[in-house]
Amino acid sequence: MDIRNVLRVKETKPRYKVAYIPGDDAGFDVMEGAMIVLQAMDKAFGLPIDWVRADMGWCMWAKSCQEYPEGDPRRNTVPEETKQILRESDAALMAAITSKAGVKGFKSAILQMRQLFDLYINLRPAKSMPGITCPLKGDPKIDLVMFRENTEDLYAAVEFRPTPKEHFDMHPGMARFKDKEEVAVSWKVFSKEGCERIIRAAFEYAKATGRTKVVCATKANVIRATDGMFKEIFLNMAKEYPDIQAIDENADATAMWLIKNPQDYQVIVTPNVFGDILSDEASQLVGGMGFAPSGNIGKDFALFEPSHGSVPKYAHQYKINPCGLLNAATMMLEYLGLEEAARKLEAAISAVLVEGKDLTYDVFRDNGDPDWEKKAVSTLDMARAIARKILPDYDKYDAEISKKAKEMCAWEHLPQ
Ligand code: IPM
Ligand code: MG
Repeated sequence: MDIRNVLRVKETKPRYKVAYIPGDDAGFDVMEGAMIVLQAMDKAFGLPIDWVRADMGWCMWAKSCQEYPEGDPRRNTVPEETKQILRESDAALMAAITSKAGVKGFKSAILQMRQLFDLYINLRPAKSMPGITCPLKGDPKIDLVMFRENTEDLYAAVEFRPTPKEHFDMHPGMARFKDKEEVAVSWKVFSKEGCERIIRAAFEYAKATGRTKVVCATKANVIRATDGMFKEIFLNMAKEYPDIQAIDENADATAMWLIKNPQDYQVIVTPNVFGDILSDEASQLVGGMGFAPSGNIGKDFALFEPSHGSVPKYAHQYKINPCGLLNAATMMLEYLGLEEAARKLEAAISAVLVEGKDLTYDVFRDNGDPDWEKKAVSTLDMARAIARKILPDYDKYDAEISKKAKEMCAWEHLPQ
């Protein structure tokens, strides 16, 4: 298997159609910032991308609730129209969506997309960036990539509350729960195919990028059926890659070693739930969630997003930094085979971080600057600083580019 079949767009084209999804709240702010940078790239060297707006998230849920009665399947965070746009696109770039707990019928938009397009790889790199210090002693340099399984495990959403009566006779281990007042059960479901394809992707990635070590993080010592199968498939497949050191670890130990010796990790492959947790941990070591990108990648489609949320309290205030989304855009450019554009974007972001001037409050604060409040610039001004690194005479075009970015990310017509 050629790794390009996994982490690269199926078919290279002279131009790509990419759906951009501002999502909700501060998602609109960072998308507007990203569109300033992406337009500057287009002006500077031509970006072969046609952008198509698509909406999903809380705003679409609210809109569908205005339009359809309770219980109607068209009440959804993802409208049919958006699904159609994504089906017709080569990739998607999403900013951030808002979820609210306890809302009847509400289903997370991103979880729906992972299932709908079978986006089985969640690729989560954690790489030290210039100008950003690691909170750990000695400022270790980290460059690891996590392959989180993205469609199975507890995310299969097979859950019971209350637990049906017949379940108590299904397994002797259920006997002691029989007389309990309330019992809830969530199934952890793994398939052989599901384990194989994520583990294969991790090994192939390591091979293609010259990495020498792959760590598999599970709890096979306790959870024998599911994690046991994952580990067994990992150890068997490792025999096909004699040049790569394959290490099987307990996920709790991985969490600990990530704090002790993060520089020792290269590639980590792990089931969905552990990947969710370990990737947040890893992101804290390289600047935090504000910088961490995430690629949801399947056979036919991929959706790239920052790991951070939509920060509703800062909605439309242009406070948070656009780097998480721009780093996701870098991953997307790589996926589309636009390697040179990806390197230029990466270099521009690094240059602004190293200069340490045009940064949003969160970057100053998380980097330990006591004057973060005074120094902070807006999301859009940080984006403009990045754009100037790509297009030196950016200011000549600022009015035009900023206007277009604002139009592309208009939100006023949507329920909030
Ligand atoms: C992530 C997020 C999602 C997840 C949430 C928003 C459903 O935490 O992408 O890591 O649990 O996968
Ligand atoms: Mg998460």
